[in-house]
Amino acid sequence: MPTLNARTPEQLDDWLAQVRSELSLPSGSPWPVAPYALNVLMHQSNVRLPHDLEAIRKHQPPIVIASVGRPDAVIDIVHAYGGLVFSDVGSLKHAKRATDAGVDGLVLLCAGAGGQTGRLNPFAFLEATRRFFDGLVAIAGGISHGRHLAALKTMGADLGYSGTSFIATPESFASEDYKKVILGSGIDDVWDTDAISGIPANVLRATLTTLGLDPETRWVRATKGDYDWSSIRWRPDLYSAGHGVGDVRAEESCAAIIERFSEQYRASRLTGNT
Ligand SMILES: Cc1cc2nc3c(=O)[nH]c(=O)nc-3n(C[C@H](O)[C@H](O)[C@H](O)COP(=O)(O)O)c2cc1C
Repeated sequence: MPTLNARTPEQLDDWLAQVRSELSLPSGSPWPVAPYALNVLMHQSNVRLPHDLEAIRKHQPPIVIASVGRPDAVIDIVHAYGGLVFSDVGSLKHAKRATDAGVDGLVLLCAGAGGQTGRLNPFAFLEATRRFFDGLVAIAGGISHGRHLAALKTMGADLGYSGTSFIATPESFASEDYKKVILGSGIDDVWDTDAISGIPANVLRATLTTLGLDPETRWVRATKGDYDWSSIRWRPDLYSAGHGVGDVRAEESCAAIIERFSEQYRASRLTGNT
């Protein structure tokens, strides 16, 4: 969960207290049943960063994922209570920087991810990363079926990271229209553009139209832009999705999706290709 999903510091505090108490083991163990992860935006545009770091220190999420920026400021805080830090990276340069800083894991943000996207091929990116890092590696981008998780294991990754698959769920705050567009879209409707935040993000065709763009005009910056999401903060009519959007066929609960992924994963490990 991105810390910024909570609109105020007070709401983040409440949510983290609730997650921790509802997921605690009956024995009173401080660790939750499932190792939930908190995602924190390290970029300078996150004016709430000092508060978010304090909330991490206080609520001790087992995993913290540092995105869009250096993970350094969060590492000591999380390691002090025995948690793990992952860094979300889209290039080998950033992967090296994060591992030099001492992260426990990397999320390789690959081509085809929803939201901010990477551009690298996951096979090549993982192979290059494994030359210097043998810690935990998650792959993000187009993971929309349990057999993809089995494939990740075969290729030498530890975890899959999935976002688009969970937009059309009753638990999601996405609007009914966004969910409808997701259900009606396929891979050819997904376009990467810098018009949303200055760096590549994948959006659906309807969003290009909303922005007055088309596939030919979707790169709007003359030079490499800086990350700036202020213009989209209050734009619920901009719809993002990754290349796996065509695998979202019906609105399903998160529990049903996770169960389906588990079954598909198990079946795929047994038969090799289900
Ligand atoms: C609508 C949407 C919002 C997202 N918001 C965030 C975010 O706030 N922070 C973050 O680190 N990643 C965010 N992501 C990216 C996901 O964490 C993840 O990298 C991506 O969804 C994985 O690719 P997939 O969508 O193809 O499964 C978002 C993705 C989508 C689709």
